[in-house]
Amino acid sequence: MLAAQIKSLAEDEPNFIPVMSNASALLYENMEDLNWAGFYLMNKGSLMLGPFQGKVACIRIEVGKGVCGTAVAEDKTQLVKDVHQFPGHIACDSASNSEIVVPIHKDGKVVAVLDIDSPSLSRFDEEDREGLEAFVRTLEEVMDLSSAC
Ligand code: SME
Repeated sequence: MLAAQIKSLAEDEPNFIPVMSNASALLYENMEDLNWAGFYLMNKGSLMLGPFQGKVACIRIEVGKGVCGTAVAEDKTQLVKDVHQFPGHIACDSASNSEIVVPIHKDGKVVAVLDIDSPSLSRFDEEDREGLEAFVRTLEEVMDLSSAC
């Protein structure tokens, strides 16, 4: 199970850089039909690109903008079946057609998001939401974000 794997990796080194790097590798390798999996971190009031797997991506996203910025503003997972129907979607990779973004917290505040994109429409469902939210809860428990924000 991916949450158990990332937990055991974080026991060796909890710093958010290796944990997020290995988390994006684990998700990208183990979930089918993805073209991007990674993290954005809150930095100086906006989201800044963090560790990821996939193509080169936008570096900064304002809170409230795009799927990632909306996940921060609403503090709520965004499950987007068709990104072209999402007002203000930011197209980093034109191959993306569906997306899921899960907020990551520290001391009750959103400090980062997990962002996963697929080239297929409706790639993500409620089961993915539950699995990825549980994965993020594990990250929140095991990862040391103190030097990130
Ligand atoms: N599509 C995202 C931008 C980040 S990329 O997907 C990696 C958004 O609308 O926030």
